[in-house]
Amino acid sequence: MKMKVIKVEDNNALSTKAANIVCEVLKKESRPVLGLATGSTPKKMYEFLVERYRKGEISFKDTITFNLDEYVGLALTDSFSYRYYMEKHLFQHVDINKENVYIPDGLAKDLSKECEAFERAIDKVGPIHLQILGVGLNGHIGFNEPGTSFKSRTHVAKLEESTRQVNSRFFNSIDEVPKEALTMGIGTIMEAEEIVLLVQGEHKAKILEKIVYGDVTEEVPASVLQTHPNAYVITDIDI
Ligand code: GLP
Repeated sequence: MKMKVIKVEDNNALSTKAANIVCEVLKKESRPVLGLATGSTPKKMYEFLVERYRKGEISFKDTITFNLDEYVGLALTDSFSYRYYMEKHLFQHVDINKENVYIPDGLAKDLSKECEAFERAIDKVGPIHLQILGVGLNGHIGFNEPGTSFKSRTHVAKLEESTRQVNSRFFNSIDEVPKEALTMGIGTIMEAEEIVLLVQGEHKAKILEKIVYGDVTEEVPASVLQTHPNAYVITDIDI
């Protein structure tokens, strides 16, 4: 099976397109449920969403959000945490009700209980209408590294050394990059009604080809999206 690919010119076009898709869901649903991602790729999408909020085109008043993942051991206020990223790029600028924001707490005393609570919260208000995804160079989605079961639910994940290396660009040094994270499972992600995978930059060309045209295998986590009825890629890469 081959996944639908929307080819765009550049990061600007990719982010505009992604922001439009989010806006459609916000307008269509009376109580929109969004799955959100962090990383460099969706930054501009958030910038555009904030712009459109400021123009009065959209509101997050009744929106519920679930973030894909969070590092274990970083305080919520730590500038390297994904919670901090979300506040900085989206939440502090819009009218979202903070009670409707779900990001796994990497400082929870009992991490497995935290994962269960996160799953329950999704169950209660789900399904997620739209899940935004980025992808790691090794094909990971959220922090589901190669080899993670396609049936996995929200869990504590061990980060690959290569992932820690790649992500160390956001930290002061590699030693500061946590070794574990909490992540929505692949099974959890796949229950979203619509999934948009954002892939930006030539350095991801090889992995994108595997994701779209390669075998569906747990060795390439994002390849599972080929089996989803409504998942597609937006990319500026020619494939
Ligand atoms: C991290 C996150 C992923 C994200 C990936 C790609 O490892 N856990 O959710 O998709 O990085 O990030 P970037 O967009 O910066 O390439």
